[in-house]
Amino acid sequence: MVATIAITFLGTASAQPSSTRNHSSLALRLDGHVWLFDCGEATQHQVQKSNVKMGKIQKIFITHTHGDHIFGLLPLLASRLNGAGGMVEGVEDPRIQNTASSSIIEPIEIFGPYGTRAYVRSGLKYTYTNLGGPYVVHELRMTNDPPPSEDSSTLSLDHAELLTGRNIVQQADGTWRDIFASDMLTVSAAPIHHSVPCVGYVVHERPIPGKMNPSMYVPHLKRTGTPMSVLRQLQRGETVQLSDGTVLQGPERRPGRKIVILGDTYDPSPIVPLADDTDLLVHEATNAHLPSVDPDTKASDTYKSVEECAKSRGHSTPQMAGAFAKRIAARRLVLNHFSARYAGDDDSNEKAKKVMNALRCLAEEMFGEGKEVICARDLMTLNVEPRE
Ligand SMILES: *[C@@H]1O[C@H](CO)[C@@H](O)[C@H](O)[C@H]1NC(C)=O
Ligand SMILES: [Zn+2]
Ligand SMILES: [Zn+2]
Repeated sequence: MVATIAITFLGTASAQPSSTRNHSSLALRLDGHVWLFDCGEATQHQVQKSNVKMGKIQKIFITHTHGDHIFGLLPLLASRLNGAGGMVEGVEDPRIQNTASSSIIEPIEIFGPYGTRAYVRSGLKYTYTNLGGPYVVHELRMTNDPPPSEDSSTLSLDHAELLTGRNIVQQADGTWRDIFASDMLTVSAAPIHHSVPCVGYVVHERPIPGKMNPSMYVPHLKRTGTPMSVLRQLQRGETVQLSDGTVLQGPERRPGRKIVILGDTYDPSPIVPLADDTDLLVHEATNAHLPSVDPDTKASDTYKSVEECAKSRGHSTPQMAGAFAKRIAARRLVLNHFSARYAGDDDSNEKAKKVMNALRCLAEEMFGEGKEVICARDLMTLNVEPRE
């Protein structure tokens, strides 16, 4: 079981960053580990300003290669892996060691759609950046992408890049299941509809120990003189037979936490098979119709026209996000990726507060009464608690 699962939003803007929102990135903190989802411009600055530790970043999941989600990746890699500005080819650079084969440092693992590997490799090559530690890129290939035998880059491998980067093909239902699996967590993914190939990710904790009621067991342990340390075995869900033949059964395991992190989308339906019963859904809400709240509302705008316009650009409204949260029976919904019109100040800015409240209400209307909707702000942290 993971003790602490928390999400820190590093950037919550859409196309244009503003004075109150930076480009997309969020950090999922799993005890001591940090996984980033998207890495827009200035992500490393935001990491420095947050409680996220740069040195703990181990995996980076890219939803799509639009600049507002990936422009920060190379500078972040350079900092994380002690990159040095290199020299032209042919000149022996004394700082280069054979970093890719170094077994001392764990590689940074990057997952993303087709082109992610080529983007990183070209960026490193043409900026002469020498990373001081290894990285690897796994691409989630879609049906229309080149076959998995083909690399997305014609450049030769970067000296810091591991050969073990996989090109992962979709399963029969269109998803990529278990692209990462440990004894505590799995990560799966599915394509979601946007204006370019885009991926949504599902982080799922494996079942966790059930709630323990010691008073159910203690009298039996006392009666038979069994050491209390047996409680720990029971807590793990094990069966214990006592000296008098009594069989004690530990509590049944509970489902682990499930977190769904979507990239830009106007329709994330293909991820539904992976996303049922989600504890926390992060869904974009780029545009909204806020007639009485947003003074810049055009007289000709309607809920319908704003939705049509958002969809035509590959984006969603808060109502669309709320409807999707309801469809997958999510417990909590977080909206992010807001248009530059929707400021992300704290509550001291009355106008921003009103706008964010209005956005939240629109999502709630579709999600259901009493359901929790949160509008993300830069540097906001949310804990995801285990279920009762
Ligand atoms: C966005 O990032 C820039 C660069 O680090 C920083 O100056 C600015 O304060 C950030 N904005 C927010 C809202 O965090
Ligand atoms: Zn975007
Ligand atoms: Zn996009």
